[in-house]
Amino acid sequence: MTTFRQRTVFCAELTQANAGQEVTLNGWAHRVRNLGGLFFVDMRDRSGLIQLVFPEGANPDLRSETCISVTGTVGLRDEKNRNPNLATGDIEIRVLELDILNQAAVLPFPVSDEGQMSKVNEELRVKYRYLDLRRPSMAQKLLIRADLIRRIRSYLDERSFVEIETPIFTKSTPEGARDYLIPYRLDPGKFYALPQSPQQYKQLLMVAGMERYYQIAKCFRDESQRADRQPEFTQLDLEMSFVTQEDILQLMEGLTREVVNGVIEKFCLQKEPVAEFTRLTYDESQRLYGNDKPDLRIPLQIFDVSDLVVESGFGVFKTAVAEGKVVRGLRYPGGHGLSRKEISSLEDVCKQYKAKGMATLAIEDPAAEVEGSVLTPAGRRVRSSIAKFLTGEELDQLVDRAQGQTGDLLCFVADTFSVSCEALGRLRLLIGEACGYRDPKKLAFCYVVDFPLVEWNEEDQRWDPSHHPFTSPKAADLELLENDPAKVRADCYDMVCNGTEMASGSIRIHQPDVQARIFRLIGIDEEQQKARFAHILEAFTFGAPPHGGMAPGIDRLVMQLVDEENIREVMAFPKMGNGYDPLMDAPSEIDEAQWKELGLKPR
Ligand code: AMO
Ligand code: AMP
Repeated sequence: MTTFRQRTVFCAELTQANAGQEVTLNGWAHRVRNLGGLFFVDMRDRSGLIQLVFPEGANPDLRSETCISVTGTVGLRDEKNRNPNLATGDIEIRVLELDILNQAAVLPFPVSDEGQMSKVNEELRVKYRYLDLRRPSMAQKLLIRADLIRRIRSYLDERSFVEIETPIFTKSTPEGARDYLIPYRLDPGKFYALPQSPQQYKQLLMVAGMERYYQIAKCFRDESQRADRQPEFTQLDLEMSFVTQEDILQLMEGLTREVVNGVIEKFCLQKEPVAEFTRLTYDESQRLYGNDKPDLRIPLQIFDVSDLVVESGFGVFKTAVAEGKVVRGLRYPGGHGLSRKEISSLEDVCKQYKAKGMATLAIEDPAAEVEGSVLTPAGRRVRSSIAKFLTGEELDQLVDRAQGQTGDLLCFVADTFSVSCEALGRLRLLIGEACGYRDPKKLAFCYVVDFPLVEWNEEDQRWDPSHHPFTSPKAADLELLENDPAKVRADCYDMVCNGTEMASGSIRIHQPDVQARIFRLIGIDEEQQKARFAHILEAFTFGAPPHGGMAPGIDRLVMQLVDEENIREVMAFPKMGNGYDPLMDAPSEIDEAQWKELGLKPR
């Protein structure tokens, strides 16, 4: 058994005021430096770092990341040796005694060297996550995450919410992904499913009369991974009874602002406080930003010029409008000087999202002689890939509609509304990035409301719920359900921040007859309804209250706070892209007896 002296103080708690005191510290040798006769160690514990100075001539056998206990006196550093980059940079510990509690083996990567760490293979970092998390920059993210969750709990506890755990072994809950299944040993051939979210349980808790529920819930989804998706992730799952959509939006905005602003302040994050949320309808969002998750830090909006080109001499535009398509555009502030190659790479992005081309119009300085430019009746000098097809008046009208300024480049796409959304929505992000609008200090939150209830699935030729099958249609649109489903809007809303979906939610259907109509619409027949949803449909027959809720992704909130684009960076023990966990080496083979026991056969 190792015995060790208990710490009297944490490293980063020490200041000049402690000078002369004898202290004991427990922690790790972060960085070890032997300057010929003088031995220095930056010692680290969870609070931070402090420099240890050993008596002259000392040369302890101490490798980086060795676990140590040190007793020494706090000394003031000479003026010239002060380190302004370290919180404890004015002081040092003059070591009296060193205990090596556990020597570290040769490290798989240089834990203390942030510059080197950015070059280390990520899978190696995840394999040795316990070392990776020793880095103060990584530990900080976990502390921020924990603080965020603590604030969420306290905000909701103060408002009479009850935290309730729901099962992990359950039955499929449809959120649109594939389920993870667990074979059931006692009746081979049967499986539990891991919950894609606690959706059905939280609704059942409303039937149970809990009225206000929340849970910091693990969710499991077997879906293709992206930078902001993991197979298991965490939601703040929340549900309320006797509420309207407005009540939920207000509560969640209040919670998000208070919690996020609290974390920003506590950790001195380089972020402006979250302002009041912008509100947009789904239709507005598509029309102005090209998608349902707009990055509102970018002040640019898509504009429509279809009405201006009905009789255009540019056949592509004229034909598009005649075919019921649209011609829409986007302004690239200061983009007039882009090279042919740069413009063609913007056009390639449009084409990648199925647009057939991108026409451009550069607004030059009227006084400048620019090759290939023309003067318009309004006295503008423009240069355009399609100028030869357009009259001067048309060119002026396009510039006016775009509110174009000298120096801008206007980009146009003629296509179906949805292709123009995709192409210009993507272009908007690139332009926003290039113009420096995506300021990391800003957290531009908004709500997108009035989502369509269903979307047409071209591949399977059927209507799919845009959120999930329990989402309530808007009462005013109910009559359209059977005849014009595409027009039915839902009491369904997303919370978006800086171009990422943070949360989704809806008011739920609590009347069995409406639920039955929705199931019919999305092609879930009675037999399937019974097999998959009998429990919840039956529950709704026992006086279910009107209810609704929402679920923000905790991981995604933390990503925004710490400026990480990869969700793995905010998780203690993430999976790699293919779902593999290199630390535990999971998933792994099972032995023959287990196959047998589960009534399964190896492939
Ligand atoms: P939804 O499926 O939209 O809604 O999920 C809500 C939020 O969870 C986060 N999220 C994810 N985060 C990381 N990895 C993933 N694979 C992942 N999938 C989703 C996102 C998303 O906005 N039960 C409903 C909510 C409700 O209606 O109350 C639901 O789960 O931040
Ligand atoms: P073309 O006459 O095919 O050389 O096209 C002239 C210009 O129109 C080029 O800049 C093309 O990229 C652009 N263009 C072609 N199709 C479209 C479209 N559907 N929408 C916008 N611009 C287009």
